[in-house]
Amino acid sequence: MLFGLFKKNKPTAAADFSFLGTDMHSHLVPGVDDGSDSVETSLELLRGFVEMGYQKIVTTPHTRPDYFPNTEADLRAGFERLKPAIAQANLPIEVEMASEYFVDYEFLQQQDINNLLTFAGKHLLIELSTYQPPPNLFDTLFQLKIKGYQLILAHPERYGYYASDFQQFEKLKDFGCQFQVNLLSLTGNYGKPTRDLAMKFFKQKMVDFLGTDMHTVKHLDSLKAMQQDGKLMRFVLEHEFRNASL
Ligand SMILES: [Fe+2]
Repeated sequence: MLFGLFKKNKPTAAADFSFLGTDMHSHLVPGVDDGSDSVETSLELLRGFVEMGYQKIVTTPHTRPDYFPNTEADLRAGFERLKPAIAQANLPIEVEMASEYFVDYEFLQQQDINNLLTFAGKHLLIELSTYQPPPNLFDTLFQLKIKGYQLILAHPERYGYYASDFQQFEKLKDFGCQFQVNLLSLTGNYGKPTRDLAMKFFKQKMVDFLGTDMHTVKHLDSLKAMQQDGKLMRFVLEHEFRNASL
């Protein structure tokens, strides 16, 4: 078993996150949501991504009208302010921007679903409330699906209301949602129930992507600490993810 692992993941079992290649969930556009608050912080977080072995970042500031008063234009303008600093820092990493869309019962009324920020073709990162799902969830997802979006559900392990009704997760999967688990859910960063649910997705082979959901330097420090946890890193490496396809 161990020999096979080394053979598959040479040269070392799990020194960093370079095996993922691409991260598709972070909040690096300064001043538009609860993520990075300055260009300097964004650069610090990007340097951290480089140190952890990532080659490409799709950063995904929140689109969530009830919490963050930003528009797509604000996100684009914020990213344009960040770009020259990235170029000047000469970081060996590719950086793109999309968004993490909060899907609630008003989503279809509030968003122009013909023009959403996507990546790798029409991949769309969506999140749900951590308290309760919108009553019209599958109607909304259906409208997105017929527009051709390939849905990636951010951190399903944080939607604990489905933990006792696991069939809902299977329904989401059958519907075509790909699941993106947060790396830090595996460390217990969001609590034990979230960790347990993340582990259940691994057991059921329901994990498609691993994401950082990086907001702050604190997250970066936690991810670097995770890299030192050989047992956890070996566990992660025993699975396959689709990050590098993005
Ligand atoms: Fe996020």
